[in-house]
Amino acid sequence: MRTQVGIIGAGPAGLLLSHLLHLRGIESVVLESRSREQIESTIRAGVLEQGTMDLLTDAGVGARMKAEGALHHGFELAFEGKRRRIDLTGLTGHSITVYAQHEVIKDLVAARVAAGAALRFNVSDTSLRGLDTETPSIRYRHEGEEHELQCDFVIGCDGSQGVSRASIPHALRKDYERVYPFGWFGILCEGPPSSDELIYARHDRGFALVSTRSAHVQRMYFQCDPKDSVDNWSDDRIWAELHARVDSHDGQKIVDGKIFQKNIVGMRSFVSATMQHGRLFLAGDAAHIVPPTGAKGMNLAVADVRVLTRALDAFYVENRSDLLDSYSETALKRVWRAEHFSYWMTSMMHRIEGASPFEQQLQVAELEYVTTSRAAATAMAENYVGVAPV
Ligand code: PHB
Repeated sequence: MRTQVGIIGAGPAGLLLSHLLHLRGIESVVLESRSREQIESTIRAGVLEQGTMDLLTDAGVGARMKAEGALHHGFELAFEGKRRRIDLTGLTGHSITVYAQHEVIKDLVAARVAAGAALRFNVSDTSLRGLDTETPSIRYRHEGEEHELQCDFVIGCDGSQGVSRASIPHALRKDYERVYPFGWFGILCEGPPSSDELIYARHDRGFALVSTRSAHVQRMYFQCDPKDSVDNWSDDRIWAELHARVDSHDGQKIVDGKIFQKNIVGMRSFVSATMQHGRLFLAGDAAHIVPPTGAKGMNLAVADVRVLTRALDAFYVENRSDLLDSYSETALKRVWRAEHFSYWMTSMMHRIEGASPFEQQLQVAELEYVTTSRAAATAMAENYVGVAPV
């Protein structure tokens, strides 16, 4: 079998790229190791930058996001028993939408299926060949049979554990990594939103985040030991912890509800440089990971895809390869901006084991500064909405 662009991975990066290429008349095949049900139900984060919203809307896949997502013009920082607002729209002219990543996936899969796309689920034994030639190929197993897909380009959107990044020889790439000694305990619960906007809380007991999914389902997180087990946490213990970390001294309290999902995620910052090798290009988590504090993960994947779509379009339509040649360099500028922001926000908001009282006061001083200085608040806001210059 032959196609123009072979895409490995049906996450936001792979599906969106396939869809955008289709709109430009460029053919692709998407190979995914999991089932459609799995990718459509895996719980991930849910903040879309304005640029992400605009791209989805322009690509004709933003209708449900617009109808069901919640447009937010700011968020709150909670610390020392008080809450202070960061006015995203007032400071930057931009806003964000809270809409779960798996809902974006459902919208993209529906659009691809409606267009009759070649989308293969439950693929195994994927391996890449001829990446440094003009005729790379992907071998894989599907429904009990071996296949070989010949293509012009291979795009690795298969996450940090996928085969794509591992196919770039070690000597040609450098990995940059930081593992944080804490994780996030995430819950989904029934009940009304506790607040009109997201609340990021710094407390001596640790970080907490109040987010939302709908008028009836809420998403909350609190910093935990990454090796802890959800079985150690009864609903009562979870609510006691969240109240202790988020409730304000003036009586504003989060709203408890029935918890129906619990999970623990580790936190890591990671960048692979380079993001390309011959005819292989990496996008999204295959190339970089950010801790969830800045809500950048899916937005970075979408930003990679924007750059890559333009570069592939220039190749096929104008017979130019300069934008492909500079893909990694272009994408990494935005990646490193987001890496810094996520690291900065994580470091300011989390309890760092072994930190001295002096270092703890520095966190509070920084929060005081970003919530009182218009310049500092603007710097935070433009990073959060994704318009910081790169
Ligand atoms: C989420 O709603 O899942 C969420 C929101 C903001 C973050 C991370 C996760 O920074």
